[in-house]
Amino acid sequence: MLQIKGISKSFPNPYGEPNTIFENLSINIEKGEFVSIIGSNGTGKSTLLNIISGLIKETSGEILLGNKNITSLPEHKKTQIISRVFQNPSLGTCPSMTVRENLSLALNKGKLLNLRKCLRYKTDSLENLLEGVSLDLKKYLDVQVKYLSGGQRQSLSLIMSSLTNPEVLLLDEHTAALDPKTSNEIIALTDKIVREKNITTLMVTHNLKHALSYGDRLIMLHKGKVILDVKGEEKSKMTIEDILEKFEYAV
Ligand SMILES: Nc1ncnc2c1ncn2[C@@H]1O[C@H](COP(=O)(O)OP(=O)(O)OP(=O)(O)O)[C@@H](O)[C@H]1O
Ligand SMILES: [Mg+2]
Repeated sequence: MLQIKGISKSFPNPYGEPNTIFENLSINIEKGEFVSIIGSNGTGKSTLLNIISGLIKETSGEILLGNKNITSLPEHKKTQIISRVFQNPSLGTCPSMTVRENLSLALNKGKLLNLRKCLRYKTDSLENLLEGVSLDLKKYLDVQVKYLSGGQRQSLSLIMSSLTNPEVLLLDEHTAALDPKTSNEIIALTDKIVREKNITTLMVTHNLKHALSYGDRLIMLHKGKVILDVKGEEKSKMTIEDILEKFEYAV
């Protein structure tokens, strides 16, 4: 289980006054649970993912994974158990390296190997790895990532983020920069990876259709608080109109 336990966070605003984002926020996420997180701009969704991944330090509170307290784990250790995919397709991959090189690096994450050694290691299995992956990624194995479309890069980022079987996957609007068709392909790939590998996943999205049709659980944050938390039948009965109403009347 991933436990967000009594997290508080405050940033100084441009006038040096404290801007409180979370006050004693607690959320428990089951192992393998796929959670969509929605909420208005500036409500703290990215900050929450940043705190879990260690990019931002909480003011107080703890993050527990299973029975381990990972709150103060150094970021390089956290990256071995927590993977991320960002909104910007340029982040998460190395543009001047080929798809094969990027995958090789991801496969060897956390190991002390130079690139040449990385490339010798297990690279023959990469063709199989990309078999059937959306947007024809396999065809681009020896192409530099800078020549790929945003959708192909996100497809690659997703594959890379799951290669070393992380315990937690954090997705921050990872389909937001994509056209509707590509975005649907990437969300379907996300679902496939998360299910096959049973990764505990938090996916921030503004796409309410995706938030409703994918994932086991839907959480809505507003001003740093959970104002909606549904799963199972309750989630499947929700409509986009219900959610739009929540956005409209959230105070
Ligand atoms: N490093 C920072 N320093 C100061 N304030 C910050 C910092 N990061 C975020 N904030 C503030 O925290 C609040 C929450 O921001 P956050 O990026 O988490 O929102 P969000 O829910 O992800 O919004 P969006 O949907 O627009 O991505 C905002 O008021 C933002 O200005
Ligand atoms: Mg954000």
